[in-house]
Formats: sequence, structure tokens, C-alpha cells
Amino acid sequence: MAILSIDPDRAARLLNIGPLVVVSTTYQGITNAMPLAWICPMGYNPATISLVMNRGAYTRALVEKSGIFMVQVPVVEQIDIIMNLGTQSLADNPNKLADSGVELFTVEEALGLPMMQGAVAWLQCRLIPDQYLEEHSNMLIARVE
Ligand SMILES: Cc1cc2nc3c(=O)[nH]c(=O)nc-3n(C[C@H](O)[C@H](O)[C@H](O)COP(=O)(O)O)c2cc1C
Repeated sequence: MAILSIDPDRAARLLNIGPLVVVSTTYQGITNAMPLAWICPMGYNPATISLVMNRGAYTRALVEKSGIFMVQVPVVEQIDIIMNLGTQSLADNPNKLADSGVELFTVEEALGLPMMQGAVAWLQCRLIPDQYLEEHSNMLIARVE
């Protein structure tokens, strides 16, 4: 049996077997959403998750300001929407959401957070600010409410 060597920068491909999610939030009238693959459960009770969010992502800035966000599990049929959301930034295209084809809705019980139509699960999350992790690892920790 041959054991192949891979570059360490490809190691994540062997480990990233969880669901791709879409993170959405809103702050002072600005709503945004981005796909995110680097998400991990960290605890059951309280339900805690970690997410790695690029510091250049506009969604991250909104999450850090609002302190709340929605994590949703999309379905494979939404792949085009997901790629649209994940290959452009609201910082560059103010019409990103409309252009992507994503449809968002809100429900009163979920703090008015934007929820992706057609997803199969929505997790309402509250950021647990951790300056060190956010600055050094782009890692955000949150509670699922
Ligand atoms: C399939 C896919 C997975 C992605 N996973 C992540 C991720 O785990 N973390 C991250 O910071 N960005 C990830 N991205 C990139 C962001 O979604 C992308 O930077 C997005 O344009 C940010 O949008 P915004 O600046 O409007 O928030 C992913 C993109 C795609 C298409």
C-alpha cells in the first residue's frame, strides 16, 4: 500500500467533513450572508460552536457588531446561490444579496435575524467575544440559543 504525502495546506480537506453552512446577520439595517465551511461543534450544554471567519468578510464585521447571527444548513440545490454568496463581498457589491438569488425571511422569535429560505435547519447564535482568538486565529465562538 502506498501512502501519499500531501502539503499541510491541504490537510483541511481531509478533516472538513461537516456541513457547509450559511452565516447571516443584520446590523443597523445592513444585512449580509456568506457560506462557511469551517464550523465545528464544541459542546452540548450549553450548545457551543466555533467558526473560522476571514477578517476581511463583511459578514464578520456585522457579526462582531450585532453579537448575534443565524447559521443555516442549506441543501445541495442551493449550490449556485451559495457560490454567489461566497465569491463576492457586500463590501464590493452592495447588491450582493439580490444578485445571488438568495431569499431571506424573518420570524419574530428569532430576533429578526435574516433566515435563508429553502434551508433545512437554522441555528440562532450569540457571539461569545474572545479578542485573542478572533484576532490571532480568525476564530469566533458562539452559543446556540
Ligand atoms: C464553499 C465556500 C466555503 C467557504 N468557507 C469559508 C469559511 O469557512 N470561512 C471564511 O472565512 N470564508 C469562507 N468562504 C468565503 C466567504 O464566504 C467569502 O469570503 C464571502 O465572499 C464573504 O462575503 P462578505 O464579505 O459579503 O461577508 C467560503 C466560500 C465558499 C464559496
